[in-house]
Amino acid sequence: MAQTYARIIGTGSALPERVLSNADLEKFVDTSDEWIRTRTGIRQRHIAAEGQTTGDLALQAAQRALEAAGVKASELDMIVLGTTTPDIIFPSTACLVQNRLGANGCAAFDVNAACSGFVYALGVANSFIRSGQSKKVLVIGAETLTRMIDWNERETCVLFGDGAGAVVLEASSEPGIYATCLHADGGYKELLWNPVGVSAGFRDEPNHGVRIKMAGREVFKVAVKTLDSLVEQTLQAGGMEASQLDWLIPHQANLRIIEATAKRLNMSMEQVIVTVDQHANTSSGSVPLALDYAVRSGKVQRGQNLLLEAFGGGFTWASALLRY
Ligand code: COA
Repeated sequence: MAQTYARIIGTGSALPERVLSNADLEKFVDTSDEWIRTRTGIRQRHIAAEGQTTGDLALQAAQRALEAAGVKASELDMIVLGTTTPDIIFPSTACLVQNRLGANGCAAFDVNAACSGFVYALGVANSFIRSGQSKKVLVIGAETLTRMIDWNERETCVLFGDGAGAVVLEASSEPGIYATCLHADGGYKELLWNPVGVSAGFRDEPNHGVRIKMAGREVFKVAVKTLDSLVEQTLQAGGMEASQLDWLIPHQANLRIIEATAKRLNMSMEQVIVTVDQHANTSSGSVPLALDYAVRSGKVQRGQNLLLEAFGGGFTWASALLRY
């Protein structure tokens, strides 16, 4: 029997209107454009408007992806949404988006793998399609991470932004996603986390607000090491050499981490999609935002080989090797 692959047939993304540049940040945070740019590559980030939610951004990205794919929401048989900043505790943001799209009835659920959320969601969707259980799946990565930023903490507040991206996957006899690799190591939980929660208890006193805590330098080191072995493993799983890759579409957290992965793959930065300068770290939104930018700007072409990768709190790390 012929193989069934999951193919990306449409991409979309959404960003809040408000842009906050490094120069804007300098006005209320003890930081500088020079420090942020040289350490991270970030120049600006988009910030969700008051009342604008992860679901709002996800919906827009999804509508654009569906339009690009020429697929009606009613044709979907699954929605998987990667997020760590859901609109509400439940229902899932995937259910909220499903209802707004008018796709009621299909499976819909969120995946929380922090910044690896979209690539995890892609891995889940890929498995459903490959096994024949789903034909058309909407995969979204969406976040309003700035909602859990403490603007007094310069170590973290300069790094993050809001945004969403989405893809429509379809079952096809043509490749398609060749391989996905998903990993986690909860032993690293305290390097990057937001320890406020439902069962562990809400804590809204001033020093324990809902905010991200991070050991930046340690995260940096583990990320580089982990991504090195992840990309090797993914190429092996997909039966491909690094020289056959056309594009690296990495998680957009830090330009220096991206450069290290490109170097490991012997790829020039010309073959790497970089949006971290424009968007900062949008967590689950980052990879699909970069992918949609790459597709719509005409960089990524049909038939090209792409390597997507991400890492995030947990630690989680995940990848997908595919022919676009
Ligand atoms: N502006 C100015 N100075 C800042 C600053 C800011 N926004 N944030 C921290 N600093 C200061 C620190 O206080 C420190 O000062 P000190 O030397 O007087 O103590 C100094 O800058 C250097 O800090 P350091 O930790 O050496 O910087 P770094 O080169 O490791 O860069 C990060 C810090 C956070 C940019 C970097 O470690 C990083 O990107 N880590 C990965 C984070 C990440 O990607 N997280 C998301 C994963 S999904």
